[in-house]
Amino acid sequence: MTFDLVVQGGPVVEWMGRGRRRNQNKGFGGNHMELEDRVVIITGGARGIGAAAAQTIATKGGRVVLGDILEKEGEATAAAIRAAGGKAVFVRTDVSKEAECARLAAAAIEHYAKLDVVICSAGILEGSMLQAEALDEATFERVLGVNLKGMFLTVKSALPHLRKAEKGVVLLLGSQFGTKLPSSSLAYGASKGGVHGFAMTLEAQLAPHGIRVNEICSLSIRTPMRIENLVNQARLAGRDPEKARAEVTKEAGDPQVLALLLAFLASTDGDFVRGTIYTR
Ligand SMILES: NC(=O)c1ccc[n+]([C@@H]2O[C@H](COP(=O)([O-])OP(=O)(O)OC[C@H]3O[C@@H](n4cnc5c(N)ncnc54)[C@H](O)[C@@H]3O)[C@@H](O)[C@H]2O)c1
Repeated sequence: MTFDLVVQGGPVVEWMGRGRRRNQNKGFGGNHMELEDRVVIITGGARGIGAAAAQTIATKGGRVVLGDILEKEGEATAAAIRAAGGKAVFVRTDVSKEAECARLAAAAIEHYAKLDVVICSAGILEGSMLQAEALDEATFERVLGVNLKGMFLTVKSALPHLRKAEKGVVLLLGSQFGTKLPSSSLAYGASKGGVHGFAMTLEAQLAPHGIRVNEICSLSIRTPMRIENLVNQARLAGRDPEKARAEVTKEAGDPQVLALLLAFLASTDGDFVRGTIYTR
């Protein structure tokens, strides 16, 4: 599948929807038909890709409900969106716990009376560079518990509400690590391989019910997770961690570009896209 996203610097984005150019930097209060009033849950929304997606979606008129274990950062992200004129709430959520995922889904209904889109961006990367015999069971379970089970529980809790939406959407953050390339961590690679199978199966289950499922597999994006992992790998390999930090900061992709892709897919303009999307 090919996907063309044209970015023209700063906050200006164009996407080609139904043969027309739209949404050219209109800011809050402009004409945001694609996401207007769509209610979007974003797990892992406190920082990184999730926070960037929340800000972009809110700028385009979506209402966002952020779930994360990082309370201070999550509240700050929601507050920044509201301060800019957008609509956002934060709900402290550990996605590895079913009751907390249910509370997150309920918060969307409580605040905005419906749910249209779920973006699963919560994730952790642990156990980097460890051979199987050195990787402890607890780490393996923790990574699978957040990255894979957490995704299942988030979707499970949201589905009863999503089924009532017109053109509901589920967006899952997979990875090229664990699907196309080996990961630095056995646990992370296993979890993202699992996400790939989960996404494929979920898509087939939900398509007949009018709910679109896309998995987004990116490579290296400049976020705390990616930077911390590469710095940690350099440290473990006896290389200069600060040099590694500088390199990844320079070379990794901008989270904003992924946020634009997620905003497009969350919108009704993304209706034609199916299945897994690999970015560069
Ligand atoms: N950054 C990359 O290069 C990259 C590449 C491919 C895929 N991804 C995936 O994108 C997603 C977002 O990653 P990121 O790079 O923004 O990382 P990040 O660490 O910056 O953000 C991940 C967020 O998930 C939250 N989180 C962790 N455990 C949680 C839990 N139990 N419950 C709720 N929230 C929890 C963290 O607090 C954090 O806010 C992840 O699924 C990651 O695997 C990232």
